Amino acid sequence: MRLTPEQIEATRQAMCIHTHPDGRPNAEQMARHLGLAPSTVKNRLRVLAASSPDMDNVQSAEVIPFSKPKYRGVPWSWQKPAANDDGEAIRVCVIGDLHVSPGQDLSRLRWIARHIKETQPDHIVQIGDWSTFDSVSTHDPIGSVKAKHRPSLRQDLEAHHESLAVFDRELGPSVIPRTVTLGNHCDRVRKYEELRGELEGSVWHEVLDSFAQFRWKTYPFGEVVFIGGCGFVHVPLNRIGKPHSSPNIMANNLAHDLIKGHSHVATYLTIPKIGQDTGVTLIDVGTSLPHGHVESYAKLSQTSWWWGIHDVIIRNGRIDDFARVSMKTLESRYL
Ligand SMILES: [Fe+2]
Repeated sequence: MRLTPEQIEATRQAMCIHTHPDGRPNAEQMARHLGLAPSTVKNRLRVLAASSPDMDNVQSAEVIPFSKPKYRGVPWSWQKPAANDDGEAIRVCVIGDLHVSPGQDLSRLRWIARHIKETQPDHIVQIGDWSTFDSVSTHDPIGSVKAKHRPSLRQDLEAHHESLAVFDRELGPSVIPRTVTLGNHCDRVRKYEELRGELEGSVWHEVLDSFAQFRWKTYPFGEVVFIGGCGFVHVPLNRIGKPHSSPNIMANNLAHDLIKGHSHVATYLTIPKIGQDTGVTLIDVGTSLPHGHVESYAKLSQTSWWWGIHDVIIRNGRIDDFARVSMKTLESRYL
């Protein structure tokens, strides 16, 4: 943290006014005086103490407890922490819907792995729809031209496994936890198996085994996984188990920050909530398909898809910062 001369002057002035009887600065009163969070004032005091030998008493400001606001009938532990700048930063690389299918160029998986190798995040999350599994799509009627030309389930399973291997080989030995919040496309295989008793324990387990073999921890379609207090899910499901589609409705209903995929559009939305320093942020991470690729079902639709990955920083249970890295940028850096 660097302070401007104005910040140093304002902090020193506030410190002269707000001190405890024993001479320690009263960070809490200083914070009110300056209109800042107590943690920010404490950080400023730390910076000042480090650079000014005459301020050796300011470190003791750390021990002044932050007085909790009084909530009628609501335990303090239920309150979301404010997005202060003093929490531990958790860095998550979020890979969007990959929609791998047989015969597809997998270069993007190598670029993403190289980016992760270079940036060393704390977690890797693939937000679901790693593979399309068009072979078991129920959208194409049996006997239709589309159904006739789609790959076999065996080809889909092999392409899925190969793409996981490509990513793993490129990333090399790495202990960064890998999480997949499964999407509706992989879930097609589960439904397919579920409707055919003779397949019990076969193809769906093969999908999950492939993920497990390459150390991806999988979570069911629709389940929200929490990392550092922020939710990750392919897409939230509504009251009747169908995917939500409107970002505004989702954000209005959210009780915590959420990072999701499924729409293939990159959006960022913050909605303030009634309460003290509270609100929610929703990030839609776009897609990690090759740049410019729009799946055939959406070719003529209103799309504005975005291709790339997101590097997200979580602090104090909230999304503190994020950066989009487009597929074109990944290509130019890591080809
Ligand atoms: Fe999806």
